[in-house]
Amino acid sequence: MYVCNCNGVTRAEVDEAIAAGAGQPEHVLAHHGCEPCCGRCLPEIADGIACGGMARIGSLVAAE
Ligand code: FES
Repeated sequence: MYVCNCNGVTRAEVDEAIAAGAGQPEHVLAHHGCEPCCGRCLPEIADGIACGGMARIGSLVAAE
């Protein structure tokens, strides 16, 4: 599933960048050689960073 449609960056690729130390949405895209275009994905990526990864967002929502 794509998080960033402009650059074709998937949830797994976002998690990979977060695990590698990306602390800003722009750093997540840069990790994959991309940069923001429309910027619509940036809040979702920021949520992923805050939760420690995109995979954790789903588990946190399911736990509520
Ligand atoms: S969806 Fe990521 S920059 Fe447009």
